[in-house]
Amino acid sequence: MTAAAHLHDAQELYRHWEHEQWNTWSIHLAVDRDQWQSALSDEDNGLVYSALSSLMVAGEWITTKFAGLVMAAESEEEGSFSPTSRSTRPGTCSSTRGFQNEVIDAPATIAAHVARSREQLGESFAVIFDYALVAAHERLAASPADPLAKVDFVTIYHLVIERTLGLTAFEFITHYLTNNELLPGFVDGCSHIHHDEQRHIGYGVW
Ligand SMILES: [Fe+2]
Repeated sequence: MTAAAHLHDAQELYRHWEHEQWNTWSIHLAVDRDQWQSALSDEDNGLVYSALSSLMVAGEWITTKFAGLVMAAESEEEGSFSPTSRSTRPGTCSSTRGFQNEVIDAPATIAAHVARSREQLGESFAVIFDYALVAAHERLAASPADPLAKVDFVTIYHLVIERTLGLTAFEFITHYLTNNELLPGFVDGCSHIHHDEQRHIGYGVW
């Protein structure tokens, strides 16, 4: 026998958001800094770089592709919740940027981070982020009242990008680093981001 799924509606998810705020400055990176300088294999370094680059590029892209969903809100509650998905993005960016600047310690601008990230990502990443997401957002922004355009966008944004790609990446990297007792600050930041993402995905499923 399977239990019925409980879907949180926009109002409940908004309440969760109010209670689940976190502060990127409370994440401690001292152990990470020591380990980064002395204890990480090339393989582990590469893993962290690839996780960071996906986050940076995804974060940058998503931030500019969100207005359509806010315009497509069908109730006051939904109109309050949708912008919270975007408002947690700066936390993601500042957490990953803090790690790059304080731990990796390679002084560079955000643009340079993203440029490096783009080089490390392949063509299939571009297919989803540069083409599918952009096209779905344009369609929704042009017709916010069109339910098919909304379902298309929500499917690509919340279910393909955040759920399938995002959560898989978070699960993999946080488990790997935790099991190997590496980079506790990075894991802490990722866990907070992961938690925020679950709320956004909950909205997409609803
Ligand atoms: Fe999200």
